[in-house]
Amino acid sequence: MPSAAWIRLAMMRRRSGVRSKLIFVTMKTSDLLTFLGVATRHPRTVGAIAPSARALCRRLAQIVPSVRPSTVVELGAGTGAVSDAIRQRLQPGSRHIALEIDKEFATRLRRSRPDLEVINADATSLGSILEDRGVHQVDAIVSGLPWSLFPPAQQRKILNDVGWLLAPDAAFTTFAYLHALQLSGARRLRRNLHESFDEVITSRSVWWNAPPALTYVCRRPRQRAWRGARV
Ligand SMILES: C[S@@+](CC[C@H](N)C(=O)[O-])C[C@H]1O[C@@H](n2cnc3c(N)ncnc32)[C@H](O)[C@@H]1O
Repeated sequence: MPSAAWIRLAMMRRRSGVRSKLIFVTMKTSDLLTFLGVATRHPRTVGAIAPSARALCRRLAQIVPSVRPSTVVELGAGTGAVSDAIRQRLQPGSRHIALEIDKEFATRLRRSRPDLEVINADATSLGSILEDRGVHQVDAIVSGLPWSLFPPAQQRKILNDVGWLLAPDAAFTTFAYLHALQLSGARRLRRNLHESFDEVITSRSVWWNAPPALTYVCRRPRQRAWRGARV
């Protein structure tokens, strides 16, 4: 006879299995297959097993102003899951720029989302890339980058550029997977966020994602005072 504890465990497993299946059902099959293909070929660039689920995308997009036109930058757009949530909040006259390092993702985004300004480039050069396009200030920066895989200098460079680009009332947001929070790259990211911003708010866990995640929302960059100069 199985004990009550075993029955509870089996039920929990069953429920979480059902939940992950449902998460994938809400994604477009072609996006999921493209994502899996690129993630298998370049696991250290993609840093995820699946596109972000709707709940996480919506949470990330919340920093995008929905009451006025704005300029929004997205880092690491992948197959566009977060791009769609951002787009839903954008007002007419807005600009939505996505930086994506992988060529296949970038090409696909350009084809499927003509409103999106897709730049196939490394977010490490964020500042100069936007400067070349005449963008000096933005209203929100939404990141899907795999921060914990980045070396210290790369994390700092991107955060520094983010700080320089944000308008005074703008915000930056990114996510981290719960199971990886104790890895050194994830701990370094948290330290860097707190060093780089006056306010860092950690969200509740988003369980409805594979794997579950949380988000950071950061405001009022300290970089200008912190470094004195752009790096
Ligand atoms: C975890 S996936 C997130 C994809 C998508 N935003 C989502 O949430 O479903 C990370 C994405 O960042 C891209 N990426 C990784 N390093 C990058 C870099 N240095 N510059 C720009 N994009 C990068 C990857 O190609 C991938 O599309």
